[in-house]
Amino acid sequence: MDMLIGFPEGEALARALATALGLPLHIVGLHRFPDGESLVRLPGAPERAIILRSLDQPNDKLVELQFLAGALRERGTRELTLVAPYLAYMRQDIEFRPGEVVSQRIMGRWLGGLFDRIVAVEPHLHRTHDLGEVFPGTRAAALTAGPLLGNWARRQGADATWLVLGPDEEADHLVQATADAAGIPGLVGAKVRRGDHDVSVALPEGTDLSGRTVLIVDDVVSSGGTLIDAAKVARRHGASRLLAATTHAVFPMEKMEAFQAAGIEQVISADGIPHPTNAVSLCDLLVDCLKHL
Ligand code: R5P
Repeated sequence: MDMLIGFPEGEALARALATALGLPLHIVGLHRFPDGESLVRLPGAPERAIILRSLDQPNDKLVELQFLAGALRERGTRELTLVAPYLAYMRQDIEFRPGEVVSQRIMGRWLGGLFDRIVAVEPHLHRTHDLGEVFPGTRAAALTAGPLLGNWARRQGADATWLVLGPDEEADHLVQATADAAGIPGLVGAKVRRGDHDVSVALPEGTDLSGRTVLIVDDVVSSGGTLIDAAKVARRHGASRLLAATTHAVFPMEKMEAFQAAGIEQVISADGIPHPTNAVSLCDLLVDCLKHL
């Protein structure tokens, strides 16, 4: 028998995915002991299992995944698929400073050794262009939520006065996919990051956003620093209205005040990470990929 296995924090998307795939759903039972260790309760022994878990705040989640995958293999599960809409530890893909661990490579060997198929959405890949390079020998797919964000913009009435703005060239593919789906132009800025909370975004000289509704898109909104600076620079270049859409919202809701102070009317996200800003579902995108991977 095949099974969709989800975790308590991601139950809504797991339920939708299981229904769409016609699979029974099992939500993993978890217990955290006072010393921080995890107890994982397993379903039976499916022949093939799809495990859904976003790996934001990843450390405990990774250990629990290891326990789950290891135990399923012990019980004879033949094919294991990981759907991690948010895939952790992808950005450290080189030794930026001497001595730093290249976590992407280690993570690739670790997860690649556990799973036969891995699916992620907007994984933070820079110098590595293909998710398959991260997980050699594993069937891997990197999806983009851009068309979903673009369709959301369309539903909001996006027209010729709208523009999609990405903070830096790393957001290029997301900008293009969003802009194409919305049928509006896209623009990419340049970002300088000086620290976790210290970034500045610049737009090409002479950019005129007067009268435009600017939809700022980014793969992740975490500290919110990038989004706030992108909003400020868009305003300086004349934008009359600001909205924001992200694939992965990992910011605390207290940040909304700062986003509003920067002139952002609304922030929306995809539902790979459950968050009050979730406005579009990844379900159909994931189902389509799982059917063909
Ligand atoms: C950076 O390379 C990413 O694409 C995002 O721009 C970044 O992770 C956003 O982080 P924050 O919200 O902390 O500025």
